Amino acid sequence: MHRRFLVPGALAAASVLLAIPASAAGASPGAPGIGDPYYPAYGNGGYDVSHYDLRLTYRPETDELAGTATILARTTEDLSSFDLDFLLDVAEVRVNGATAAFASSGEHELVVTPKVPLAKGTPLTVVVRYSGVPSTKSAYGFSTWHRTPDGAVAADEPESAWWWFPSNDHPLDKATYDVSVAVPDGTQAISNGTLQSTTSRLGWTRWTWRQNKPQATYLATLALGRFDISTGTSEGGVPVVNAYSRNLGDNEGAARASVERTGEIVDWLSGVFGPYPFASAGGYVPNTTTGFALETQSRVYYSPRQFANGSNTSVVVHELAHQWYGDSVSVKGWKDIWLNEGFARYAQWLWSEHEGEGTAQELADYVYASHPADDAFWTVKPGDPGADRQFDIAVYDRGALAVQALRNEIGDEAFFAVLKGWPASHAYGNADIADFRAYAEQVSGKSLGALFDTWLFQPAKPAGPAARSGLTARATVVQPRSWKKIAATNGVHEH
Ligand code: TRP
Ligand code: ZN
Repeated sequence: MHRRFLVPGALAAASVLLAIPASAAGASPGAPGIGDPYYPAYGNGGYDVSHYDLRLTYRPETDELAGTATILARTTEDLSSFDLDFLLDVAEVRVNGATAAFASSGEHELVVTPKVPLAKGTPLTVVVRYSGVPSTKSAYGFSTWHRTPDGAVAADEPESAWWWFPSNDHPLDKATYDVSVAVPDGTQAISNGTLQSTTSRLGWTRWTWRQNKPQATYLATLALGRFDISTGTSEGGVPVVNAYSRNLGDNEGAARASVERTGEIVDWLSGVFGPYPFASAGGYVPNTTTGFALETQSRVYYSPRQFANGSNTSVVVHELAHQWYGDSVSVKGWKDIWLNEGFARYAQWLWSEHEGEGTAQELADYVYASHPADDAFWTVKPGDPGADRQFDIAVYDRGALAVQALRNEIGDEAFFAVLKGWPASHAYGNADIADFRAYAEQVSGKSLGALFDTWLFQPAKPAGPAARSGLTARATVVQPRSWKKIAATNGVHEH
């Protein structure tokens, strides 16, 4: 305190600074990225969002989306300006009631400059009025807004929010959501969570959805089109809402025969992972031409193609497993993707065992034997695969193999205690692989450094005995009966 007065000019500067709140005197712009080395520009620095309120209107014929986002947040540093990630056309921004200057910058930044700098810890209400045709917007040369003959869908990973709402687009900043969308009568709007109401007036129907648990931005979804909606409750008491495009053609039966088993599968997974973390469950199948499925929170996205070869409950298991591993407990950074995909794939192995189509160990043996030591498969480190290999097949298959190696190392009792305890220990939050290792060590009482290093962080095929003693002695391993259905989940790897 004393030292300050020794700095030349400090007194003169202080009198100028009186014009703005003293605590924001050193305010500077918030970073354009949250600090994820895989995606340096994703998310933003300087604030933390707690809630998104989106009130929108959508016209399926023209793909026009318009409305208002009201974002509740709090500054985490002194800010002269801050960024949102967004691609649509902005008409007005207000910060705590006052109009703010705004400009786009970079690939997907909306820079907001309030009239007065913001001190650290300031509660913010940011209102963004916007409109635009999402299908005409791109960043880095791509778009993840999926236009359909009767509307559109926002669902992709890791980026889908930029095309429909302004956000702090990174899993580290989770928030609750109210999403309310007016569409022409006869069109449905599907989103996350519970359907609070539908109201019709003058040819438009407003659909109002609520996600009351923290949700990562990439897990927020919006589907606009002509859907049949089915509702029910699982035997264990979880409300289920599913939606099917009225335009699924020959895939409709298989889609329903798979997704209608959501309640049964949620209950089964609850036995393995603990209580289902959200107020509602379900999935939707829009008439997109994509090949993937995505674990959008409490309302899973399935491509019709997933069901082209008949029903597939394995993909339903995968996406529902993510509700615990990925959605309730989210990655801290995208390098932690194994915490999502390794466990969602492992859940498919457990389901295979449950269905009598091959045990988890048999599937592990098959993966291990299918890739010779010189296969590039083993050069991918599931524990830190790099952005360009974030969704490599090895993150899934080698990732699940790592889970099986953990099971063999600590034994079934500790292993299943970890599988069930982990989602509870980090519910609705974020975690990284080091946190998981610490948790598994605590539960098992074993030091697991070498095991994690071998299976997740070495660009080489681990020695056989670590997988299962005697395994390497066998030249080939029979393909488990569940294999093809499990592999059919991998649509994402085909594009
Ligand atoms: N997380 C998805 C799954 O395995 C897969 C996925 C990866 C994905 N990248 C994607 C889905 C991009 C859609 C778009 O279930
Ligand atoms: Zn997955």
